Amino acid sequence: MKKLLSLLLAAALPALPALAQKFEGLALTPPMGFNTWNTFASNINEVLIMETADTMVKNGMRDAGYTYIVIDDCWQLMQRDAQGNLVADPAKFPSGMKALGDYLHERGFKFGIYSCAGAKTCGGFPGSQGHEYQDAKLFASWGVDYLKYDWCSTNTRDPKEAYTTMRDALYAAGRPVVFSICEWGGSKPWEWAKDVGHLWRTTGDITDCYDCTQRWERGWKTILDLQRTLVQPNDGQGNGIGQFAGPGHWNDPDMLEVGSAGLTFAESRAHFSMWCMLAAPLMAGADIRHVSPEILAVMTDKEALAIDQDRLGKAAWPFRTEPGREIWVRELADGSWALALLNTGDQTAELSVDFHHMWFLGGECAIRDIWDKKDAGTTEKAFTKRLDSHDVALLRLSPLKKK
Ligand code: GLA
Repeated sequence: MKKLLSLLLAAALPALPALAQKFEGLALTPPMGFNTWNTFASNINEVLIMETADTMVKNGMRDAGYTYIVIDDCWQLMQRDAQGNLVADPAKFPSGMKALGDYLHERGFKFGIYSCAGAKTCGGFPGSQGHEYQDAKLFASWGVDYLKYDWCSTNTRDPKEAYTTMRDALYAAGRPVVFSICEWGGSKPWEWAKDVGHLWRTTGDITDCYDCTQRWERGWKTILDLQRTLVQPNDGQGNGIGQFAGPGHWNDPDMLEVGSAGLTFAESRAHFSMWCMLAAPLMAGADIRHVSPEILAVMTDKEALAIDQDRLGKAAWPFRTEPGREIWVRELADGSWALALLNTGDQTAELSVDFHHMWFLGGECAIRDIWDKKDAGTTEKAFTKRLDSHDVALLRLSPLKKK
């Protein structure tokens, strides 16, 4: 009887694998774009979104790959309407979400929105719990291409169940959507989320400092440390949290604070470099309308972005972690390696890398210094560079002989 019932049910539902296929291939490299939360929190509206999009067209960010524009929390009204639908706050979004989605699509962007697996969002607006299918349909009708799905007010809800329910609701709505799991790492989503979402947050929220901790927020270096320690061992033998990242499914150490006021230029550049090393999603969080040319040059640097977007999708692992210095390495699709040398000390320092211990290189490599835009000899000799406190040298090591 049970078997007959499930057969009948299966026949009545659209074939899930066919729907699922539409979602595959959406994030073969880490998603890139802009998200409102880090700078604007609840202070958002359609003019901000349109101005940001226009700026990203003019300043080259869209063409560099930053195509997802995501409206985070606080876009909603406090109550659903009589039909139970979420309502965009008309004071903030007077033209409506469909019109805003069209505006973005017409300019070559994708449209992202936020909701939450609990009864309420973290900002206290209505969440999607119990309304998953209705909300997914509404988002599809607005032309939404990306959903960030948060974890506030979830009480005893099981994360895998909650996120799978929303994934199935998105499948049922039939519009391909990048599904961004924002559960903060508590249930180790890297172990279960690969077939549920395209990216999953590994930690709590980032804030614009180097290594501070305030409430549930942390600086980027503290978050980087967690990427190293959350999964042990993390030793370059295929272990560590990086093993869970790959085409279509990414660890998300949170959005970028690059260009935010609490970071020095060196800290912003190192933060960006390390997120590229981690194969992290690159969601800009600063006010794009007012970033400096130097920060813009960092965020649109082709050689750095080529590391983040490398099609092999292998994340970096920490080769050396010592007082004052960290070295992270990452294998790339063309047989070369990316290497980040980070000055973790609070003084300018002359730091070196000796490549002779790097068995994985498999022979002599040419060194490209990405931030200095120059070739820097070969791995036969140690590489040495004077680095400001919290700055980084980002290198690409290319084998001189084909392996
Ligand atoms: C949580 C998330 C943040 C942001 C806020 C919005 O804290 O982790 O990224 O979306 O909620 O309220």
